[in-house]
Amino acid sequence: MSLIMLKDIALPEHFPIPEKLSAEALEADHQLFERVKAALIEHQALLIAHYYTAPIIQRLAEETGGFIGDSLEMARVGKDSALNTIVVAGVRFMGETAKILSPEKTVLMPDLTAECSLDLCCKAEDIKRVKAQHPQATVVAYANTSAEVKAQSDWIVTSSLAVELADYLKGRGEEILWLPDRHLGSYIANNAQTDVYCWPGRCVVHDSFDPSGIEALKRAHPEAKVLVHPESPASVVALADCVGSTSQLLAFSKKDDAPCYIVATERGIFYKMQQACPEKTFIEAAIAPQGVSLDGAKCPWMSLNSLAKILECLEGTEEQKAAHAISVPEDVRVAALKPLDRMLAFAAALKSGHVPQDL
Ligand code: 13P
Ligand code: SF4
Repeated sequence: MSLIMLKDIALPEHFPIPEKLSAEALEADHQLFERVKAALIEHQALLIAHYYTAPIIQRLAEETGGFIGDSLEMARVGKDSALNTIVVAGVRFMGETAKILSPEKTVLMPDLTAECSLDLCCKAEDIKRVKAQHPQATVVAYANTSAEVKAQSDWIVTSSLAVELADYLKGRGEEILWLPDRHLGSYIANNAQTDVYCWPGRCVVHDSFDPSGIEALKRAHPEAKVLVHPESPASVVALADCVGSTSQLLAFSKKDDAPCYIVATERGIFYKMQQACPEKTFIEAAIAPQGVSLDGAKCPWMSLNSLAKILECLEGTEEQKAAHAISVPEDVRVAALKPLDRMLAFAAALKSGHVPQDL
């Protein structure tokens, strides 16, 4: 197998890290919480939240019949829901995915400026050129990309399926042009033992985990196991007892019997981990002191989701509500739907135990 890192890709020099919301905006204001809860119920809106959102937002999803999950599950639930209004608390690609899959539904997001550094690393206008350089390769885009990038891809995949899809494509004799995460690209090349042309993008959070800091934590907590999201560098993955998507890490922490875990993914996941296993200890993995200035393992864009913004999605002025609505141009949507549907079909086939050769 070989990993060929693409060289002529211009990545952003700096990521536009948004200002943090104030402590008041994030704290569990009981009155506001009850108002947003009532609004979701009254407007028959489904709140779909990612594990990385603030605990108060995950609790809101729990108390209103909403959903909390990883990016694959979020896509599936939005599509399968009978409700016509969906509020996606996460980052923009998650809202776009919901809209691509359910164009007839109103898809709202608390903050449309909630980016993802991976998405920012991968401009749609670069794809055509890179595809022309590797015309034989199958383009596999990570879900953390814009609708325009998805529209130019053969497959979409989330971290929960990436190695399985790489294996499947290898079985069909296909080379992979993978975008945009360098670490996940290297992880799938290693695990599926296949050839990957890899985009050099990165997640500001996972790229910052520090292997020597994690080793120090392991020495201090010899009873701890290490859980790692595959957007992390190979040196961090090498320390893991479990590597997987957010849902997969959560599932491992539930069924495993260690008393303590060092967790190399975004801090929001602690809410569900601690809720499922109150007797266990979860420790945030060490972040390298240099690099992007982060508030620990906290995604700056996920942190833009707040109760007040969810309320504005549902009960703001018409102008405010319009500013929360996701729209995707129809030609882009139709083109992006194909690889997304393929991903969902692949996930369903994997679950059933039989994956046809011609998906
Ligand atoms: P999951 O698909 O594991 O939820 O990951 C999404 C993400 O943005 C990780 O940083
Ligand atoms: Fe994107 Fe990283 Fe934030 Fe996930 S944690 S949404 S990959 S920037």
